[in-house]
Amino acid sequence: MFVCGNWKMNITIKEVMPLVKSIGKAAKKANCEVGLAVPYTDIAVANQATLGLFGSKLQIGAQNCHWEPKGAFTGEISAQMIKEIGGKFCIVGHSERRQYFGDTNETVAKRAKAVMDYGMRAIVCVGETLEERNGGKTKDVLKNQIENSLKGLEQSENLLVIAYEPIWAIGTGKTATSQEAEEACEYIRSLLKNKKIMILYGGSVKPTNALELFSQKDIDGALVGGASLVADEFISIINQIPQSKLL
Ligand code: PGA
Repeated sequence: MFVCGNWKMNITIKEVMPLVKSIGKAAKKANCEVGLAVPYTDIAVANQATLGLFGSKLQIGAQNCHWEPKGAFTGEISAQMIKEIGGKFCIVGHSERRQYFGDTNETVAKRAKAVMDYGMRAIVCVGETLEERNGGKTKDVLKNQIENSLKGLEQSENLLVIAYEPIWAIGTGKTATSQEAEEACEYIRSLLKNKKIMILYGGSVKPTNALELFSQKDIDGALVGGASLVADEFISIINQIPQSKLL
């Protein structure tokens, strides 16, 4: 199981230490892997904060990266840069990147490859809009995203994680029911060549719904936005791994 926070464009460098220290301490005792995808400007200091927490399982990662190793791409950050600053993983193809910054399945696959080539874990996000769900297109959308966002990638369970995030559930307080989430994750697993790849659910995960989501057969953890900005909430979520899912 893997529970990963996504701070999005929140938490300045001045705010990093206390949050990472509290979460890092809790991660040390957690029954799952714990990650935080932080803004680029926070990676170094967040890593530094975890250094004092010997044995902490807290991994620091990024939220996006460019696919080229270097070059004339003003404003971009490469996978190598993330690796060298201590990043352990990188989210790619988050719906906010697809929606506001023109990410496509093709660019998502290229970004994921760059991340994996540097030995980091790529968390590839997929998910349908409310319109697509209501139009009965959820499976078609997921199939297209999985096939094309993973095109050419080696399906290694060590380096690849999928996050199913229905767009209508992100930041809206509207969680998919555990049954809706499980159905989608089960379908995604059926499309994967390697069935051991972890599939996370994301979209308004909170202390009050985490246990039920984590108890589903095909849900291997969560990608947590809003609740990862509040130490107590995030810690409560990582402490809800059900007995049945302990290794
Ligand atoms: P949320 O965001 O938990 O605030 O809904 C999830 C995400 O976008 O990863």
